[in-house]
Amino acid sequence: MKLIVVKDYKELSEKAFEVIKEVVTTEKMPALGLATGSSPVGLYKLMIEDHKLNNTDYSNVKTYNLDEYTGLKKEHSQSYYSFMHDNLFYGLNIPEENIHIPLGDTDDLVKACNDYDAILKDVVVDVQVLGIGANGHIGFNEPGTSFDSLTHIVELKEKTRLDNKRFFNSLDEVPTHAITMGIATIMNAKKVLLVANGLNKAKAVKAMIEGEITVDCPASALQKHDDCIVIIDEEAASLLDKKY
Ligand code: GLP
Repeated sequence: MKLIVVKDYKELSEKAFEVIKEVVTTEKMPALGLATGSSPVGLYKLMIEDHKLNNTDYSNVKTYNLDEYTGLKKEHSQSYYSFMHDNLFYGLNIPEENIHIPLGDTDDLVKACNDYDAILKDVVVDVQVLGIGANGHIGFNEPGTSFDSLTHIVELKEKTRLDNKRFFNSLDEVPTHAITMGIATIMNAKKVLLVANGLNKAKAVKAMIEGEITVDCPASALQKHDDCIVIIDEEAASLLDKKY
């Protein structure tokens, strides 16, 4: 793991943007693995700004999102489909057919998982963007998920639902399940870029970087990835033993 500790969220987003820009401008057909959540929003803003200012081209870019809630219509304001379009896709020139997000609004979730794996099996993701849940989850791979997992349905932990409640009117409205890319697929990406900020993430960040590699902290699997860049602010780094 390459760890970069920065002063604040602005610097975190700028450093993450440098990594993505490099991939987008050097690969002929860049494949980006993308994440939802508030952590990458600053990065996504910079991508849009750069596209507008410098005409950075996204017409050959393909994207693969990590996860989606089940039981929410695509058009629901809190679906990850809406999140990604509102926070990134509407600001770039990625053709809609190049955008891949697992399907959560279906009666046949097993098929949705298989279909997503069928797409992913032929793809080498150049860089996978990740946030981290306060319980160490990546995508929606909650603690206990096998490191061999492919796309699957998860029951969200109470802690995750409480953390995500801020986007809904009440806890009752937060979906109980989600469809997520598995840890094995995440680990297949050529490069992984994980961003985390704030005190709320400090415990998970410590377990990911300094803890043992265990399914109790799904993000600890990344210790075994050959090219994983972790960019965190000082608050998220505050519980680390070593000074980086
Ligand atoms: C969500 C998403 C994850 C995200 C994490 C952290 O539940 N499924 O992909 O990384 O939680 O979210 P945030 O960045 O808002 O703290």
